[in-house]
Amino acid sequence: MSKRILNVVGARPNFMKIAPIHRLMLNSEKFQPRLVHTGQHYDAAMSKVFFDELGLPEPDAYLGVGSGSHAYQTAEVMKALEKIMLEERPDLVLVVGDVNSTLAASIVAAKLCIPIAHIEAGLRSGDRTMPEEINRILTDSIADFLFITEKSGVENLKREGIPGEKVFMVGNVMIDSLVMHLKKAQASIILEQLGVGERGYSLATIHRPANVDNPENLQKILTAFHEIQKSIKIIFPIHPRTRKMIQTFGFQNQVDQMQNLKLIDPVGYFDFVKLMEKSRFVLTDSGGIQEETTFLKIPCLTLRENTERPVTIEIGSNMLVGMNPAIIIQQGQQIIAGKWKNSQIPELWDGHAAERIIQILTEKL
Ligand code: UD1
Ligand code: UDP
Repeated sequence: MSKRILNVVGARPNFMKIAPIHRLMLNSEKFQPRLVHTGQHYDAAMSKVFFDELGLPEPDAYLGVGSGSHAYQTAEVMKALEKIMLEERPDLVLVVGDVNSTLAASIVAAKLCIPIAHIEAGLRSGDRTMPEEINRILTDSIADFLFITEKSGVENLKREGIPGEKVFMVGNVMIDSLVMHLKKAQASIILEQLGVGERGYSLATIHRPANVDNPENLQKILTAFHEIQKSIKIIFPIHPRTRKMIQTFGFQNQVDQMQNLKLIDPVGYFDFVKLMEKSRFVLTDSGGIQEETTFLKIPCLTLRENTERPVTIEIGSNMLVGMNPAIIIQQGQQIIAGKWKNSQIPELWDGHAAERIIQILTEKL
């Protein structure tokens, strides 16, 4: 009998991760997948565009929880998902990544004794002030199938006493989506639309609360951008949280005065992949973008003190530069001068992670 699976997503980085898994499940007689979108992200540019581009069907259920404090958002997802899980009694709840929707779905499933699969398990930044770190630790502690993207995940879970038989090193589903859609992304005309040429710009995305909800840190980042844009254009597709905080802290004038910094709305996946692939380098605090730039071998300066994705530093094209403008500027100049490390693509980041996940679930469920 085919297994009923509830695939739960909520925020932008979830969509790239679920797409290859949901597609394979839809094409298999062994699974009856249902897709639930919590509505944590709801702007068309943060949600619908990804469903369209990644070929995801309309969600079977849309919970419309929207924005709010951590407790509010998590609780709203839990209340709405509990009804669905009680009605549908799925054989498995599958969650991806580390957002509030991931944790909320996992808690509900665990209390209803429904097995949980966590995609991208085991990542740890070691920084418990990050909401995502709490979501990761708690989700992994109650998951039944922990699918790992890089070796550090296996070590972290071992240290936390998670039994080895629950842990599966399968590679990176985010890279599955990248491999699958790279050709389509390469056909994007975003460079022409923005009037930039190959390697003639850097690409920035910033949205972590530690960076943008704190005026001193946001100021440091803007100071670094101010200096860098004197040497190379910066394309900055701005996350809604960051746009809001720039206005709240009265930094809009500063941003407007940077003539070589182009602030744009968040872009769709194909445009963003094209922008990454053709950039001189990327400035980011995103989790997923550290991985995508590693796969694309594009220099990435990560504006954080730590990363839950150490393989991108150890063998990939990523470097942690923290929040110190002098270091950010200095490393940007190194790259512009043509100096950067040689990098490699991590093990099993080969476009086939979802197939390995499906194989394991087929055997074990
Ligand atoms: C969330 C995730 C973070 C992830 C990021 C990806 C948590 C705790 N955080 O952070 O791990 O890296 O998504 O982008 O789950 N907003 C809009 N439109 C939207 C969505 C959000 O305007 O469609 C604005 C709202 O003002 C909202 C703010 O952005 O309050 C933050 O949204 P939220 O989902 O709470 O957190 P993110 O910063 O997006
Ligand atoms: N991304 C996108 N458009 C943008 C910014 C990011 O399509 O304007 C994609 C990016 O390629 C990656 C994902 O969104 O696949 C990363 O999401 P985000 O940085 O919001 O979350 P994080 O990975 O930090 O949790």
